[in-house]
This record gives sequence, C-alpha cells and structure tokens, in this order.
Amino acid sequence: HTAVDTVRPVLHYTARNTWLNDPNGLIFHNGLYHLYYQNNPHGSTWGNMSWGHATSEDLFLWTEQDVAIRVDPYEEIFSGSIVFDAHNTSGLGTTLQPPLVAIYTSAYTKASPHSGLQAQSLAYSLDGGYTWEKYADNPVLNRSSANFRDPKVFRYDTGTESFWVMVAVEAVDHTVVLYRSEDLKAWQYLSSFGPANATGGIWECPDLFPLPVDGDPENFKWVLVVNLNPGGPNNGSAGQYFVGDFDGTTFTSHTTVTDGLQDPTRLSEYQWLDWGRDYYAAVSFNDVPDGRRIMVGWMNNWDYANETPTGPWRSQMALPREVELATVAGQPRLIQRPGAEMSTHFEPTPFHNSVALPIAEGTHPLEAEGPVLLLEAEFTAGTATEFGLIVRKGAAEGTRIGITPALGQLSIDRNNSGQVDFHSTFPSIDSAPIVETVGKYTLQVVVDHSSVEVFAQAGTVSLAELIFPLEESTGVSVYSLGGTATLEKLHIYAPKNPSWN
Ligand code: FRU
Repeated sequence: HTAVDTVRPVLHYTARNTWLNDPNGLIFHNGLYHLYYQNNPHGSTWGNMSWGHATSEDLFLWTEQDVAIRVDPYEEIFSGSIVFDAHNTSGLGTTLQPPLVAIYTSAYTKASPHSGLQAQSLAYSLDGGYTWEKYADNPVLNRSSANFRDPKVFRYDTGTESFWVMVAVEAVDHTVVLYRSEDLKAWQYLSSFGPANATGGIWECPDLFPLPVDGDPENFKWVLVVNLNPGGPNNGSAGQYFVGDFDGTTFTSHTTVTDGLQDPTRLSEYQWLDWGRDYYAAVSFNDVPDGRRIMVGWMNNWDYANETPTGPWRSQMALPREVELATVAGQPRLIQRPGAEMSTHFEPTPFHNSVALPIAEGTHPLEAEGPVLLLEAEFTAGTATEFGLIVRKGAAEGTRIGITPALGQLSIDRNNSGQVDFHSTFPSIDSAPIVETVGKYTLQVVVDHSSVEVFAQAGTVSLAELIFPLEESTGVSVYSLGGTATLEKLHIYAPKNPSWN
C-alpha cells in the first residue's frame, strides 16, 4: 500500500489503477457474478469510455479482468446491459454455444458518420464474458437522437409469451422509452414513461424489474428505476424509483407524486434509492438465482467525481444491495440491505457490545476502532435534539451519523470528515426523512476506508457517502447535543481479514 492507498476500500470495488463510473452488464452466469463498468483504460478521469470487467463468487471480493469492450476511433462504449441468450435467439452464437449479448450505447465520435448521435449496439461473447466481438450491423436501434442511451434489457416471460424488453432513456426529455424484440437485433417501440417526479436533471441508467410485495408470490409489482443528474434530494446525482405495473407494453406508476416539471419543494416526497451524495447509476443484475434482486450503484457524484483525492485509481462501486418490496405506511417501498454475503467477511461475534448506555450531552469515545467496521446500533431518544455515532474519529475530525427526532431526520455530516477541500460542493450535511419504529432508531453502518453506508429503520432508508479521513482517524464515538439519549444496543464487528484493519 502506498500512502495514498490508505483510502482504497476493501469491500467496495475499485479498478486497480484506472477510472470507473457506472456499473454495466451486471449478470450472474456460470456461477460467477460479472461486473462490467464504464472505464477509462488509459487514465484516472472520465474519458476513452470502454467496458472494464471484474468477476466475483460472492459480490464483495472482485478479480479485475481484461477490458471487455474498448473505445475505438468511431465510438465510445457507454452504459448498457448483458443478457444470456440461452436459446440463441440472436443467432450470434449456436444452439450448443449460446452467446452472452451486450447491449450498449454507441456514443459516436467526430470521426464517425453518425457523429453526435447515440444509438444502441450489440457485442457478443462465446467464452463466458471474457472476450467480446462487436456485431457487424451495429447500431441495432437508432432514433437519430443525441441523448438516447443506457439500455437495460431483460427477458419478459409470462408463461404464455416471452420476448426481450429494453428500457432506455431519452435523457434530456426525462423520458424512459421501452422496446421489444424477438432476436435482440430488430426492436419495436412499445411505450414511454415520464416526465414524472424528479426532473431537476437528465434521466440516465433506467432499470425495470418485478418483485413480490411483502414476499407474497401472488402479488408482484414492477419497480422502474430512473437515475437523475443533477437534482437529487441532497444535490447532484441520485436515483429515484417508481412502483407500479408492467403488462408487457406499458409501465403504469402507482407512486407518481408530480407529473411534468420539477417541483423542488416536493423532492422529499419522491422515492429515492439512496439519500446520500454518492449513489448513482444503480441498476440490477440479470439472472441471479432464487429470485434475489441485487443492485449495484456507482459510489460517486458527477458534481466532483473527477476530483476525488485518490490515485491512480479513482471511484468505487457501492456495496451490492439486495432489494425487496414491502408495504411501509400503506405504500409499496424498496427495502435495501447489503448483500447477505457481506457478513462472511466479518467476524461472527462482535468485538464491541454496548447495552442500555445512557449518552450524556457531549462526545464519548468507545473502545472500538478500525478503518473497516460493521456497526449495528439501536437508539432511543431522550431530551437531546440530536444524537448518534461518529466514525473515522480522529483528534480533529470525524464523520457524524446523526438522528434529529424532532425533525424526523437521519443525516451524515461530512463537513469535518477529513479531506473535503478538493471541491466546493463536497463538504455537506445530507439528510433523509425517517420515522421511528416502536420508539427506536436502528442503524446498520458499514465503514470501509473512504466510505460510509448507512441502512436505517430496517432498510427503508439509506445514505451512502464518500469520506477521505486521515489514516490514523479510526475511532468510534457516541454523541448527543442539547440533552440525553440512550444507546440501547451497539454491536461492532471487525473484518475477518486482519490485513484490512
Ligand atoms: C451516467 C452516464 C450514462 C452514460 C455514461 C457515460 O453516469 O452519463 O448516461 O452512458 O455515464 O460514461
């Protein structure tokens, strides 16, 4: 580890020594998770867009593979998805050797006859996703648009009929467009969705998938994910979602609050994948077994992504999240938690346990430290206006995870989290609305070198944020302001791998 590498996370994917942004082509295939991603193979800032590639058995430890699809003089390879074409509907493989097919956005360069346009193209792999050939008749879907991108393709199968569905965006129109195909090559327009709810930025990287509500196999709803930049609930990039029905042609939202133009005063009424500053371009894996739906977001914000103080690598993925639909206050809402496999990387027994600990006004260090920690906390309110945890606490810095009961708010304050001056918009206090459940506030917190992810109130609310603390700032404290609170429980788990701490 070089000095600068003390900020490289261990459970969050980073490319060895290059830039990354959006996760692409997420698929579980032949027993492995494949994570492709927007990658600059030649640098540490955005550019030369290609698909990098990594594989994992458990979603948390990744092996970087060779760049999968490379920029060429005529096109950059923007975001998209991968399907396993098991019946060789595309004819790009054979019945005995069915292909993986990538559907990506061709962002045409000045040298291309399509200069200025974005259209959807195919590449295919016959070796399980390691090497890729571009399809000879690209693009396969061209609307003569400069902002038509980020195709997510999945198999729609009702038992009686089955075809490929693509969701993509007309980014500046705040519109998701849907198409269908029998062979991944010829696409037929189905419908469009939007503008709706948050439209304070362009719409990018959509996704559409079904989930049972409250685990009831008779009651499926569809989740439409729409990433948005800028215009998130705490500024910059963020992801919103809608819950509704999809009948093979049209998505009908049941959670739209405002149609048409942005109403900035209503941002907190919309549904957000995450309320933190660093969770963008989140989409889900295809073909994960057992009905699990796992999403990966890019842990960054376009406001400052090119300037984060790391190198030569820059940017990380957020923790893979398992998502479910549950009824919360009468509404279908996403419940998110880190993928279950994460726990295999932490000791099964916590090394720190606090029980019914009264928190007097002030900051109180706990006997616990580490740059990589899993914390499970439960608080009850007292007379304090605000209380919570401070992680990556050092002599003069720390990241505050606070609850303000009177406002019904959970926030991360990273104003004094370490290095914050590399961009004027980085220092911030970012909040999310929460409701206490049976009088309690419960937090699951993952600290991983240069990041904090908080899952609150049983996964109904999450906040993901980057931080750049000093290497030696590894403490954990509890605090309360203006009165008292109680730490009913705190369990802190250390990573199994001793070299991580
Ligand atoms: C989202 C995005 C996508 C685009 C890609 C380019 O972060 O802007 O819309 O395909 O990044 O790298």
